[in-house]
Amino acid sequence: MTHQPGLPAYDDPRRFPPRVWQAVELSRANRFPLACIPEVGRLLQICARGAGRICELGTAYGVGSAWIDSGMRSGAILVTVEHDPARASAAAELFADSPAIEVLSGDWSLALDRGPFSLLFSDSGIKRAAGDPEKLLPLLDPGGLIVLDDFTPGYGQDDPARTVWFENRNYRAIEVPLTLDASVILATKRAAAVRGGRRGSRSERERG
Ligand SMILES: C[S@@+](CC[C@H](N)C(=O)[O-])C[C@H]1O[C@@H](n2cnc3c(N)ncnc32)[C@H](O)[C@@H]1O
Repeated sequence: MTHQPGLPAYDDPRRFPPRVWQAVELSRANRFPLACIPEVGRLLQICARGAGRICELGTAYGVGSAWIDSGMRSGAILVTVEHDPARASAAAELFADSPAIEVLSGDWSLALDRGPFSLLFSDSGIKRAAGDPEKLLPLLDPGGLIVLDDFTPGYGQDDPARTVWFENRNYRAIEVPLTLDASVILATKRAAAVRGGRRGSRSERERG
């Protein structure tokens, strides 16, 4: 498991959407390297295209939000939540001219009043521990997609940070490598999701 600082990978502004580059420069000016890597950004851009209501937990200086924004279709909205007031304020200023993007300052749980969403990028730390998948359930529509980054390929199937997703009856989950040393977990909320999702039977899991 790594927290790979994504910022060094942003090397040439011509390779990135202009607003992504602005967010990268804002992160650099504030010496905050923990932005999503470009490969995660491109995945978010693709996923955003098919989503109507989108949420990000952990805005930082807006790099992930800007990637989502670059893929959003007309009429889609993004709610992004940041705990650190200075980061939230800087990100709100970055997106001040985008009425479809709302930056909330405070704990991720503020998003509970705005859900459910069809796409969720959970990047505030709520993603690896037992119980985290259940905390996020109310934020997702049935069939909604969640993107979880900062995984490292090759850990095997008995890593607790993965099994909380793979063995949870409320989600279908898969790990997708994006680079040699970075992978994401993608999970969709099953239609019959219930709180307290212990591992279901094999036939339950196969039915979806
Ligand atoms: C890895 S950074 C987010 C990077 C950003 N999503 C991107 O792709 O550029 C994690 C952020 O989550 C924020 N955070 C941590 N705990 C939080 C909480 N309980 N609620 C909201 N945000 C939180 C941190 O302040 C930090 O800015």
